[in-house]
Amino acid sequence: MYVCGECGASQPKWSGQCPDCGVWNSLEEARSETAAAGSGPRGGGWTGQASGRVVSLGAVRAADTPRFGSGLSELDRVLGGGLVPGSVVLIGGDPGIGKSTLLLQSQAAIAAERKALYVTGEESAAQVAMRARRLGLDPGVLDCLTETRLETVLATAAANKPDFMVIDSIQTVWSDALQSAPGAVAQVRECASRLVQYAKQTGCAVVLVGHVTKEGALAGPRVLEHMVDAVLYFESDSGSRFRLIRSVKNRFGAANELGVFAMTDTGLRPVSNPSAIFLSSDEEPSAGSCVLVTREGTRPMLVEVQALVAPSSLSQPRRVVVGIDPGRVAMLLAVMNRHCGIQVNDQDVFINVTGGIRVSETASDLAVALAIQSSLREVPLPRDLVAFGEVGLSGELRPVFNGEERLREAAGQGFKTALVAHANVKGLKTRLMIHGCRRLDDALAVARE
Ligand code: TYD
Ligand code: MG
Repeated sequence: MYVCGECGASQPKWSGQCPDCGVWNSLEEARSETAAAGSGPRGGGWTGQASGRVVSLGAVRAADTPRFGSGLSELDRVLGGGLVPGSVVLIGGDPGIGKSTLLLQSQAAIAAERKALYVTGEESAAQVAMRARRLGLDPGVLDCLTETRLETVLATAAANKPDFMVIDSIQTVWSDALQSAPGAVAQVRECASRLVQYAKQTGCAVVLVGHVTKEGALAGPRVLEHMVDAVLYFESDSGSRFRLIRSVKNRFGAANELGVFAMTDTGLRPVSNPSAIFLSSDEEPSAGSCVLVTREGTRPMLVEVQALVAPSSLSQPRRVVVGIDPGRVAMLLAVMNRHCGIQVNDQDVFINVTGGIRVSETASDLAVALAIQSSLREVPLPRDLVAFGEVGLSGELRPVFNGEERLREAAGQGFKTALVAHANVKGLKTRLMIHGCRRLDDALAVARE
């Protein structure tokens, strides 16, 4: 049969496009396995089959899942408070971004109290040892296995009984049970599911490193993401020394949580106060820039939105947006045109969120609008101003959740004034001077004063 590398659907015939998900060139040959004779109902229906045991959830003792720290505060944060025994975490990211470095550092910290095993199919033991020395870790406490055959990995793990095991990477592991090459969809899926099974049976926390494709998605079948308990992505702005880890799925914590690290010459260092790094440090305020309080996962964070509006020579002016949904910006421009009398049809508009961070919240609307107005007028906003709020299609300013917490973060970073939706002001206790506006028009007018 042929299995799609994107959605995992199987087809009896090869074709250039997957009939299920529509992706081109994703079908790969795989050996089909037929269910053993005797399983499933035969004639007599379901009676006679061994039945399972139904339990009432009230009888299940849901002890607070005991976790153990990964040794890196920001990684613990993304995981929702540490590693859960028996869980499987998948970490994806571009080559060279620091996945192996992060996990080796984490292993060294964990190895102080527990058994940890680093299985690498990508590098030799000498290379890993060299990295460990460079990171200033004690190579003596680090157990490493260079192996790509799954059966050997599982047998070694069964003998060593680690509490924490890293598989670097899942694409290099292959199983005897299948004939396809390592990295092929069927192999990746089979190996991952056997490792998940191993984790659940033994209580070992397993971390799988996954490669990403050119488009930035995890390579291999999408089903991999369904099998594991948490999926983390390593991101970075090209050339920046900051590394962001985002949880896109987490069965034991908040999704979309963000961890921030700085890559130094002795490895990754957690950055516990990311607001400070995402704000530009120059004293002189510049036009077209507005500070926004966004919330990533469970933490409020200050980031700077920049806009550049300049007369265009093109018949269709450019709209270049980095770090925010471009559709959202197009909508804002339409609202500003229709309800606030701000017209940029003959201007190029560039929007950028500094620090390489991606803001996926609608709370960024107000800051983007303020940045656009500021660039258009060439008048900087006050340096001590923060803004957040969602803009509706009729030009109204809508509140965002956790307003008070966001303002507290802004006050903590030394900001003095805030421009927010009127509904966010109710019952608020804060040191900041707050302007609550009902409409985008009013907020833009306040900023012009
Ligand atoms: P690595 O962990 O090998 O990346 P991945 O496993 O995701 O492919 O990261 C290697 C990069 O990190 C490499 O470009 C050098 C850099 N680096 C540092 O800057 N400082 C360090 O202490 C180490 C070990 C690596
Ligand atoms: Mg690596």
